[in-house]
Amino acid sequence: MLVLGIESTCDETACSIVEDGKEILSSVISSQIDLHTEYGGVVPELACRRHVDLLIPVLQEAIEKAEVSLKEIDLIAVAHGPGLIGALLLGLSTAKSLSLALNKPFIGVNHVEAHLYATLMSRNEGIRFPCLGVVLSGGHTAIVRMDEIGQYQLISQTVDDAIGEAFDKVAKILGLPYPGGPQIEKLAKEGNSLAYPFKPGRVKKQPLDFSFSGIKTGVLYAVKGQNSDYSAHHCQLSYSEKVDICASFQHVVFQDIIQKTVLAANESGIDTVVLGGGVTNNRTLRKLFSENDSHRTYLWPSEGLSLDNAAMIAGLGYHKYLAKGCGDALDLEALTRISLAG
Ligand code: KG4
Ligand code: ZN
Repeated sequence: MLVLGIESTCDETACSIVEDGKEILSSVISSQIDLHTEYGGVVPELACRRHVDLLIPVLQEAIEKAEVSLKEIDLIAVAHGPGLIGALLLGLSTAKSLSLALNKPFIGVNHVEAHLYATLMSRNEGIRFPCLGVVLSGGHTAIVRMDEIGQYQLISQTVDDAIGEAFDKVAKILGLPYPGGPQIEKLAKEGNSLAYPFKPGRVKKQPLDFSFSGIKTGVLYAVKGQNSDYSAHHCQLSYSEKVDICASFQHVVFQDIIQKTVLAANESGIDTVVLGGGVTNNRTLRKLFSENDSHRTYLWPSEGLSLDNAAMIAGLGYHKYLAKGCGDALDLEALTRISLAG
């Protein structure tokens, strides 16, 4: 079964052709990083306009690279949430129009769930459920129990910023360009992770929940010191102060994630942990997980499947379609928020 996947939830326009939920025939991703860098984050209105310009060329490229024709596509899968409403509507309208024009079914999938599926589709052999799913993306941070594809129970989540968002905000405080995650990872390699005593976020009565807004404020105070205007002061940080802040911040948030993941896995007696989302691109995180807990199996997305992409949308769409036995109705809505466990 040939599935066309469409992804436009935030600042990547992506299309992909995937066969039988696993074999990626093409995966085209057009990032808008250049557009948003000067603003230090994604500007929704600009993101939407760029999606309008890019959706059709990206679709054409995906079709050409896969060496198939549109007529050969059996199903159109699209991320209908969560994300920026305008951006979602553009991908969804494209999917619906293609569905009508080609007389092929279409199906909406949850972008966050697709991040976990990206890791499942990265494996050659099958996965034994239940697994623990850990989403570490720019917009979401959560731990779920995965009983099978499509069946999840929420164990914990962030009560404020997502982990990727925390990386981006700390990078902005340090005067580093958007997106901050890769910049911080790079600088952290040269720094002393014990130089700044940042504290991990604790949530009262919810020991497995995450909170990253406190550490972000900790970084802000470390940068501005006694001065009220930090923007003028990040420039005055020495290079060694900057790399030490990056290393210390990254160390504390990663230890926090590892500790809570291991605790959740112990409590639920689960041996296999599936991690997904843009922050899993961080090689230091992968290394730390295996150093801290070598008994469990940690599964990571393969190259090109950590950050936003449409292959994970097409792959998950295939399974959703098979489970449901039909596509979605054309009145399917774009949703800025969707729960994973629903
Ligand atoms: O999953 P994703 O592509 O988009 C969302 O669904 O949100 O994740 C993007 C996030 C950004 O916040 C970015 O800074 C972060 O992933 N990220 C990283 C790294 N690469 C991307 N964070 C830490 N280390 C990295 N190497
Ligand atoms: Zn994402």
